[in-house]
Amino acid sequence: MAFTVAIDGPAASGKGTISRAVAQRFGFRHLDTGLLYRATGRRVLNGEDAVAAATALMPDDLQTDGLRSADVAEAASKVAAIPEVRAALVAFQRRFARLGDGAVLDGRDIGTVICPEAEVKLFVTASAEVRAARRHAEFDDDTTLEEVLADVKRRDERDAGRADAPMRAAEDAIRIDTTEMSIAEAVAAAEGAVAAVWSGG
Ligand code: CDP
Repeated sequence: MAFTVAIDGPAASGKGTISRAVAQRFGFRHLDTGLLYRATGRRVLNGEDAVAAATALMPDDLQTDGLRSADVAEAASKVAAIPEVRAALVAFQRRFARLGDGAVLDGRDIGTVICPEAEVKLFVTASAEVRAARRHAEFDDDTTLEEVLADVKRRDERDAGRADAPMRAAEDAIRIDTTEMSIAEAVAAAEGAVAAVWSGG
């Protein structure tokens, strides 16, 4: 029986790190669903139509370099507001969630739309200022902290404000605020929440 861990939250909240650690600890597979939107956004920056791009995504699209740039993040957030783009990516995500013994999916709408039946749902947050500082430390270009903070806030608003599958915590999600937590503390909180439900494969 497949076991699904849904981890949602805004940009740079720590959900990616937490997801990878949980997957490793419990031997589950991990899908960073943001990559699907980033890969679609990147194709759009290269001139493709958004819906056609989402429909035509290939595994190789997720491997390519450059998906982590600020331009691609912005394009991802724009295509993610298009219902037909989201619809084109649903089946892949649900299949991934139910293949194998267990899976961790992280994104914005996993606990609410993609896997509302997930055995464990986490919503990982942190203040916009702390998230911007974390993202700024990851970039090695000359983008300023103020620019990153503005990007983060703009993307938060678009992701939470869209009509289709807005970013929000599921009612039964466990909230983890990582503003004042170390990575180890955040990972421990998430692993504890999963361990309380998972009884082994
Ligand atoms: O790593 P970061 O949190 O900055 O971004 P991401 O998780 O890679 O997601 C990039 C963008 O894709 C987000 O701003 C959302 O607009 C969109 N996204 C979404 O709409 N639904 C998901 N399940 C995952 C990402």
